[in-house]
Amino acid sequence: MRKKVSIVGAGNVGATAAHWIASKELADVVLIDIVDGVPQGKGLDLLEAMPIEKRDSHVIGTNDYADTANSDIVVITAGLPRKPGMSRDDLLNTNYKIMSDVVGKVMQHSPNCILIIVSNPLDAMAQAAYRQAKLPRERVIGMAGILDSARFRTFIAEELNVSVENVTAFVLGGHGDTMVPLPRYSTVAGIPITELMPAERIEQLVQRTRDGGAEIVKYLKTGSAYYAPSAAAVEMVEAILKDKKKIVPCAVYLEGEYGISGYYVGVPCKLGAKGLEQIVEIKLTQEEDAALKRSAAAVKELCAVIGV
Ligand code: NAI
Ligand code: 2OP
Repeated sequence: MRKKVSIVGAGNVGATAAHWIASKELADVVLIDIVDGVPQGKGLDLLEAMPIEKRDSHVIGTNDYADTANSDIVVITAGLPRKPGMSRDDLLNTNYKIMSDVVGKVMQHSPNCILIIVSNPLDAMAQAAYRQAKLPRERVIGMAGILDSARFRTFIAEELNVSVENVTAFVLGGHGDTMVPLPRYSTVAGIPITELMPAERIEQLVQRTRDGGAEIVKYLKTGSAYYAPSAAAVEMVEAILKDKKKIVPCAVYLEGEYGISGYYVGVPCKLGAKGLEQIVEIKLTQEEDAALKRSAAAVKELCAVIGV
């Protein structure tokens, strides 16, 4: 039997994630939204692409959570995206209300699922979902680090004129202005970029990575990025469904790892069939550690506002 992935929010990120999942034939997909007709229309359109793509993923769109029953994974993208001039944090109160509504309904129908949270502000929304779902932390994981790292990887590959396949990078911390790109752990064919570029150029790429979301918002004007974000969420879906034991940066609930307790923060994680299977603790310099703690403090502030 094929696996089942439900995606809450059939907007830009949700529908594009459905597209990637179906085109990779990873699972059957249920797209759900509060707006009547949009998930149904996008779901049917994607289903009709399957004969051309030679894929047998079944895709439906719905407004009824009963159709999401017994999902293996539920990806939550419901919520407002930011507009030019807004930070991700400006979405806090509105998206918290949406998250609370959605998680309650999801859990009624798929009590054994793994939740992948995408809505912003990401770390606080993941924390809200975790508190409400009452699932073990292994089954509530936030997507941000793969996206932020992919942006950093793109800029490194362009700068050095090398294949993106040669570039690995780690961006840790919260998904916001305090995110922590780690040049020492970012490599081209195994060579740290600190050996390949002057420090000031690396700093410019780091800053562009921090501003990566805003750079796209500025172009789009009416919403935020969705191709790379949905590809990042689907990398997590694939790692879990295929039990790949893949190490990627994700936002997870820390219980003392990296000296942080009680908050969602982006750290290197091993993803497999059980969801979060291991938090990988790497050695940080004093400066990197302080940056990660500052980032965790920013997450803590947001969580305090919504009381999660
Ligand atoms: P969008 O506006 O295109 O889609 C959001 C969808 O959520 C809409 O179709 C809307 O009808 C739906 N929705 C609203 N309330 C709902 C509810 N109660 N139940 C079900 N559906 C509901 O926005 P987009 O671009 O897809 O972004 C979605 C969210 O993901 C935003 O909060 C955005 O900031 C966030 N995001 C996070 C990223 C990350 O790295 N974690 C990256 C990109 C986006
Ligand atoms: C991004 O980084 C909006 O968080 C989203 O593109």
